[in-house]
Amino acid sequence: MCGIIGYIGNRQATPLLVGGLRKLEYRGYDSAGVSVLDPGNGATSRVVRCRGKLANLEEKLNKEPAPGTVGIGHTRWATHGRPSDENSHPHKVGAISIIHNGIIENHLALRAELHAAGAKFSSETDTEIFAHLVDQQLTAGAENLTVAVRRALQKVRGSYAFVVMSDKEPGTLVAAKNSSPLVVGLGEGENFVASDVTAILSETRKVIFIDEGEIVTVTRDGVAITDFEGKPRHREPKIITWSAVQAEKGGFKHFMLKEIHEQPRAVADTLTGRIDLEGDDVRLDGVELDVKSIKRIVFIACGTSYHASLVGEFLVESLARIPVEVDLASEFRYRDPIVGPGDLVIAISQSGETLDTMEAIREAKKKGATVLAISNVVESSIPRLADHSFYTHAGPEIGVASTKAFTTQLVAISLLAIYLGRRNGALSRERARTLLGELVQLPNKMRDVVDMSAHLQVLARRYGHADGFLFLGRGAQYPIALEGALKLKEISYIHAEGYAAGEMKHGPIALIDEHLPVVVLVPKGPSYDKTVSNLAEVRARQGKVLAIATRGDNEIGSHADDVVLVPDTAVELQPILTVLPLQMLSYYVADLKGTDVDQPRNLAKSVTVE
Ligand code: G6P
Repeated sequence: MCGIIGYIGNRQATPLLVGGLRKLEYRGYDSAGVSVLDPGNGATSRVVRCRGKLANLEEKLNKEPAPGTVGIGHTRWATHGRPSDENSHPHKVGAISIIHNGIIENHLALRAELHAAGAKFSSETDTEIFAHLVDQQLTAGAENLTVAVRRALQKVRGSYAFVVMSDKEPGTLVAAKNSSPLVVGLGEGENFVASDVTAILSETRKVIFIDEGEIVTVTRDGVAITDFEGKPRHREPKIITWSAVQAEKGGFKHFMLKEIHEQPRAVADTLTGRIDLEGDDVRLDGVELDVKSIKRIVFIACGTSYHASLVGEFLVESLARIPVEVDLASEFRYRDPIVGPGDLVIAISQSGETLDTMEAIREAKKKGATVLAISNVVESSIPRLADHSFYTHAGPEIGVASTKAFTTQLVAISLLAIYLGRRNGALSRERARTLLGELVQLPNKMRDVVDMSAHLQVLARRYGHADGFLFLGRGAQYPIALEGALKLKEISYIHAEGYAAGEMKHGPIALIDEHLPVVVLVPKGPSYDKTVSNLAEVRARQGKVLAIATRGDNEIGSHADDVVLVPDTAVELQPILTVLPLQMLSYYVADLKGTDVDQPRNLAKSVTVE
């Protein structure tokens, strides 16, 4: 999500840090900062940081220069704590400066512990906690910064990449990785550390990628890697041959493909800290809803977020037994909606800026409803307008066609449905336990599916020449059929329709002939037999069927021309797996056609017009 860079050498650090951060700007951020120290001059680091773009930081640095040859820099994309000067990184505690990507899962417990021990906090972030932990270890006698970081890490749960610098040990940067990316760049008498190769590519192409569970100590002249127990690890450097643009995409051809592959991690980050496996319950980051007073839920959204809302209808009705309506924000706002006290309006928007959704919220609030926003961008306009907000942690999505924002929305809605069901008594503890257990396993199962890209590439070649596609599904798979069709038309410009499988006989069946590929979502579940019948109706008319089914389904092969099998999970969570092959199919069809996948014609990522 955020951007990290560190430098240690003989050159002035600040311009290198700011230059590196500039290369990471495309990832999206809302504040930036550096901490720089001059080892020969008292070695007191100077932290300069502020909300907003890098230009603001540069302006501040012009007024308050930060000279020195050792430093760390960061662009922050807010997760814990709003975007503000105080919450910007680096955070400084005593002699320790720190930058961090990711989320410390047990930050509340650690904060309370540190507070009881007398620590004073100057930000709302989870990051500052780690600075206190390292400082605490040094005070307790850790012999050097690396040892202090190693000991402090033992207390931390979550996904992270940290870089730590100490005024007392000015010749060292210490970095650690668990889940968030980290790379060391090797120079002559100077070294770099960064979250992405892009940040350092103009300075060096010789890099070492840091693995999970490793700590790296970086000095001017060398790099030492250990595991979290202190056991040395050795790795040969690699020479990067990617161009700068390729590097931004992490070696993937398009941002969309990169983002498809990022989904297991995005979902893991969205789950982090929110599942209480002992209590069979969900924590919504401090959101407390008076669930028993909710008479009805109304979802409002646009585009892909609208499809997530349709899955939400299925989830909330089945797990919390609360009546649900779903509306397109652009329709809701103009039809004098019947909405008011007793209604919980859930507005879903990855960008948090879609004007139609914003106006629909205003309308709902005016009429007395309570509004909860689900967004991917902290402190964007929609969460600020809502009464409550809950965030997905997908990280910035660059590709216009939404992928990881969608699957993380589905995860957020699943958590919300469990939260509601547990509080109004509709969902048994046992069922909640099963669902939470399945949610925890999702990232691995998603990885399994995104690893099938070679198969989807073959299918794209087989079907990609068609003039039109039909996508069919029932229950929670119906919105996935809509989303599959939307994805395909957005990026490949092939006409596609999503339909409820049971409704096919009332119209779209007229389209079926040997030229029409029909993608049928048919995972194991209550609608399986009925959907198989619809699939037979397609084949009886020579339609070509590509079935998305559940691994272990030995029958489906005899009903379809091609099959993609995804791992089994709870029916309510199946959409999070079945949508993945549809995203990949769309991507590979579009890539074959050579369209502008990341910026399709006529589309915008954030639509702030009516
Ligand atoms: C645009 C984007 C879509 C997105 C829709 C709603 O049309 O191209 O990908 O689904 O806006 O955006 P939101 O940010 O509110 O989820």
